[in-house]
Amino acid sequence: MSEIVIKKYPKLLHGGDYNPDQWLDCPEILEEDIRLMKKAGVNAVSLGIFAWAALEPEEGVYAFDWLEKMIDRLYSEGIYTVLATPTGAMPNWLTEKYEEVRQVTPEGVRHLPGKRHNYCPTSPIMREKTKAIDTALSKRFGRHPAVILWHISNEIGGNDHQSACWCPKCQAAFRQWLREKYGTLENLNHAWWTAFWSHTYTSWEQIHAPSPAGEPWLHGLNLDWRRFTTVQMRDFYREEVKAVRTYSTVPVTANMMGFFKDLDYPKFADDIDIISWDAYPEWHSEADDVNIAVWAAANHNIMRSMKKAPFLMMESTPSVTNWKKNNIQKRPGMHEVSSMQAIALGSLSVQYFQWRKSRGSMEKFHGAVVGHIDHGNTRVFKEVAALGEHLASVSDAVYHTCNKPEVAMIFDWENWWALEDCAGPKRGSEMHYVETFLSHYKPFWMMGIDVDMVDMDADLDGYKLIIAPMNYMYKDGYARKVREFVQKGGIYVTTYWSGLVDETDLCFIDQAPLQDVLGLWVEETDSPNEFYENEFEYDGQRYPAKDICDIVRTTGAQKLASYCGDYYEGRAALTKNSFGDGTAYYIASGSSEEFCIDFYTELIRKYEIHQAIPTELPYGVTVSKREAAAPGAKTLYFVQNFNPYEVTVMLDHPYHCLETDEMLGEFLEMKGYSCTVLY
Ligand code: GAL
Repeated sequence: MSEIVIKKYPKLLHGGDYNPDQWLDCPEILEEDIRLMKKAGVNAVSLGIFAWAALEPEEGVYAFDWLEKMIDRLYSEGIYTVLATPTGAMPNWLTEKYEEVRQVTPEGVRHLPGKRHNYCPTSPIMREKTKAIDTALSKRFGRHPAVILWHISNEIGGNDHQSACWCPKCQAAFRQWLREKYGTLENLNHAWWTAFWSHTYTSWEQIHAPSPAGEPWLHGLNLDWRRFTTVQMRDFYREEVKAVRTYSTVPVTANMMGFFKDLDYPKFADDIDIISWDAYPEWHSEADDVNIAVWAAANHNIMRSMKKAPFLMMESTPSVTNWKKNNIQKRPGMHEVSSMQAIALGSLSVQYFQWRKSRGSMEKFHGAVVGHIDHGNTRVFKEVAALGEHLASVSDAVYHTCNKPEVAMIFDWENWWALEDCAGPKRGSEMHYVETFLSHYKPFWMMGIDVDMVDMDADLDGYKLIIAPMNYMYKDGYARKVREFVQKGGIYVTTYWSGLVDETDLCFIDQAPLQDVLGLWVEETDSPNEFYENEFEYDGQRYPAKDICDIVRTTGAQKLASYCGDYYEGRAALTKNSFGDGTAYYIASGSSEEFCIDFYTELIRKYEIHQAIPTELPYGVTVSKREAAAPGAKTLYFVQNFNPYEVTVMLDHPYHCLETDEMLGEFLEMKGYSCTVLY
């Protein structure tokens, strides 16, 4: 069983961002909030996320009394505090007095004061001011019985451009980091292949971070700049953690953003006690909600897989966002099923942005639990309150379970960066790494099979099946790990545009690193446009061959499918190779959703991968299993209906409903957009 991190309050958390600093001059609103929180089953709120100006109105002058009163008052009503450090938004006195705290754009322009999530992570002044306020918060609140978790900053790196600052201090730190990494310019020049286009560096000072106004196309430079950005942001984050720990042993988190390209999140995992993320799927934006549910599930899985432990859904909207092209209200029931989806996949919380709607400024029309008018009586409030009850009823049972998938997919940030920068068969934005990844995951979601999503540095032991779509880069040691995995009996699936470059984005020459395992190498890669028509035949059926088509030379692999047309007619579009005790598959061609479903269904059957419940699920329904992880605990099955209409799910035997303890029959009747937890 994974260790309980939030020891002070080991319950499912329900609540979210509370920003009472907007209402400090309205004590009656604050009291009303507490009454409503109790009505909605709220047991934890996040405080102080954007409150720097209220907490330190003048440089060095702290005003913490209001916060203390708030924490005490909430605690007296049984509501715990997730306490934030306020670096998500800088106060004007700081940005005005010290311009170095403001980021510089890639074109070299210093930001004006304003916005948020935009501090320079290298600035010594920013670090000093942050340390001062974080330490003061730690001193005052670090041992408060109500404070259960530190929420470091907010959505680190979330900004309009790549999460980085191009100021001279950051550039100098980058050069220093490169010196430590490469030792000599000769090594760097080799890794970045600078002999091409006369890009050889003869002094460290000649290196500038990538910029549209300067060098945008040196792939090794781009990759290292992104890596450095993660390192620098993480370093700033670590300083914050150190500061809050001065007087406190309370665990720490940093709310992430799921598929957020700019920061290599798994690199933060060791410095985070419990992973958390902010979930804003675009519900109801397509003909049905299946793809959105798949996207949301994949995000939850990535979060869980980073520490292979439960995580928190730190933000979500109870109703609507305000920053998308169309901000669509969650239809009745969607709040229930989307929130339970998070719990099903490993979350220990359902938290919102935000508790009460702002009266003015940027987020006044963003959804909140408490609206502008008739607060406790709205549809949204009632759905939140109903969910609060549901969470409370399952909390203890859920706490003693964990997700244990047999399948893992490789999702790697460095691969993402390199793949979409590789100037290869398609323009970067057309490579569609995330979309491809999701299309390989969807069949598992449809069959109710949980999947871990790990990067190339992860331990692969213990999985039956590993899927690595568009695994363009092989980091050092990865090929060896895969070879051992297959050798020992693992099933490995990879696709076109995989295994082409090493960790520095230099192409492998002479031999493809997994040629022995896959039994092939790639001779050519075709990248047809959307009008191209070709097919391959697999298992007596024809599927489209499209997007990217590798033309491979088999060196032992068995051909399972062949292209039907063009000059590569008859060449392998799908192969299988036995290696050691295991098997490796290579999908050489892009294809349709139907192909992925048919192919993986066959693999699931052949290799006896277990569905959470062995049954044929109706379209739009999935099941996630949380296994008993403590003596006396129950294994739980979360059946989720993402259809707006009722469905009947045929179970393999009768189960109990966790909420009511009632024994249900073999036919589970489900309302539209609902979740039933069974045991
Ligand atoms: C998050 C952010 C919140 C709020 C929310 C709105 O990204 O952390 O502060 O802005 O989005 O959806």
